[in-house]
Amino acid sequence: SLLALAGCGSSSTQGNAAAYTKENPLIVKFSHVTTADSPKGKASTKFAELLAEKTGGKVKVEVYPSSQLYGDKDELEALQAGNVQVIAPSATKLVGFNPAFQVVDMPFLFKNHEAVLKFWDGDLGKKLMSSLESKNLKGLAMWENGFKVFTSNKPISKPEEFAGQKFRTQAGKVLEAQFKALGAGAATIPFGETYTALQQGTVDGQENTWNNIDTQKYEEVQKNLLISNHGRIDYIVLTNKKWYDGLPEDIRKAFDESMAEATKYERELSTELDKGSEEKLRQSGKFNIIELSDAEREGFVKLMESVYSEFEKTVGKDIIDGARQL
Ligand code: LMR
Repeated sequence: SLLALAGCGSSSTQGNAAAYTKENPLIVKFSHVTTADSPKGKASTKFAELLAEKTGGKVKVEVYPSSQLYGDKDELEALQAGNVQVIAPSATKLVGFNPAFQVVDMPFLFKNHEAVLKFWDGDLGKKLMSSLESKNLKGLAMWENGFKVFTSNKPISKPEEFAGQKFRTQAGKVLEAQFKALGAGAATIPFGETYTALQQGTVDGQENTWNNIDTQKYEEVQKNLLISNHGRIDYIVLTNKKWYDGLPEDIRKAFDESMAEATKYERELSTELDKGSEEKLRQSGKFNIIELSDAEREGFVKLMESVYSEFEKTVGKDIIDGARQL
């Protein structure tokens, strides 16, 4: 009846659960910027499969990879406007909502992979996620990609060689300061436009995970790769809070369960895929791969220390100290 469709007597904005059927499913748009075979691509597809299965087809998640629906900045606006229901931007890209998300960009902060997981699953990570609720955003999970390395067309084996080069960054002042500490310039460019920017020489280099470098085919447009592992690409899976709160209870439960299972899958997969990309790129011989000795690495760490004095307040001393001691 019309009354049931209007969700009479409930605060639901999505109508009655009974309104959705296999023939007339709730459409959930999941937009992201990496390829379908990246960890984020595979996990979003997994999420779609799980949610369809758990609801008997009453929810249909449409996944749009490779910035085909929205790019970096647009996806955040589209989520708030309700034009898309799930996105998974890297934490860096949430800098406009809360600059403390730049914790992932503080140079050489996280000791290892384990420390990263502990951070996001612990109190500090949870606090960061809940800070988004006032912006009508709900953090659902942390999906990971991995540690970043540098690539450039010009030599980058020593800190001095970075001077005068220009690097693409995702967003935010911390990454800009990181490159400035190396004497280099920085330009924020959407992920979907980075290949072309590298190809055309708008920038000399960029920083990313092995898997992003591989799946974006940067080896076609970059010569040198420096294994630095200096920062992180970690995703915050986000939904529109009002939309989520208005979901019928049974669907919300299936949504949460599917997200928890997809998260477990993503975290197992990401390390494996990043390793696979590293092996593939090493074997391809397309990059001049530069490994750092401990002393050389220490040289980069020392140079980038200025980022800490500059951004300790912005990112938060508790967050930086908390991440460092894990
Ligand atoms: C980037 O912009 O380099 C990454 O955040 C892309 C991604 O989603 O992994």
